[in-house]
Amino acid sequence: MAYLTFPDGNSLTDSAEIASILDPVGVRLERWSIPKDKKLAALLALERPAPDESEGLLAFFEPRFEHLRSTLGYQARDLVALSPSLPGLDALLERFLSCHTHDDDEIRYVIEGEGIFGFVLQDGAQVELTVLPGDYINVPRGAEHWFRLPPARRIKAIRYFTSREGWVPLYTGRRVLPFPDAGPR
Ligand SMILES: [Fe+2]
Repeated sequence: MAYLTFPDGNSLTDSAEIASILDPVGVRLERWSIPKDKKLAALLALERPAPDESEGLLAFFEPRFEHLRSTLGYQARDLVALSPSLPGLDALLERFLSCHTHDDDEIRYVIEGEGIFGFVLQDGAQVELTVLPGDYINVPRGAEHWFRLPPARRIKAIRYFTSREGWVPLYTGRRVLPFPDAGPR
């Protein structure tokens, strides 16, 4: 389950406390359980799934997409699989390390590995949310944030889109504070 970290290294694991901090900036976090299935587990273990394997993975989560499509109008989904062996990983990550916003919601459902979203709160304070398998996150359009990977540099997440254009980063120029890489304490 996701946990929140502060620049001083303190962290929060209680979902209600985390929600009380992220609600004011419109960030929504939910838990969507990952099916227990041998074939799914084998696909999730692949470091870099081929296109047909990615489709096989997405098929396990299609009811989620159908729900988002019918309730929120989401039009497309794809799988992003990042790992140290991915060519161009550093350049890809570099685009999202700085504070930015998007013109569309950034919706990610983590199904393997972990990632870190950083947020600027209303008072200007900064926090980082580490998202883990089963975490579904909606970063609303216009919310100032960044994204990075912890040292293992491995994550698989499903991205949901209303359009392909809306999630290009619009940089705000704000400096991101240094955060520790430790887990919850
Ligand atoms: Fe983003």
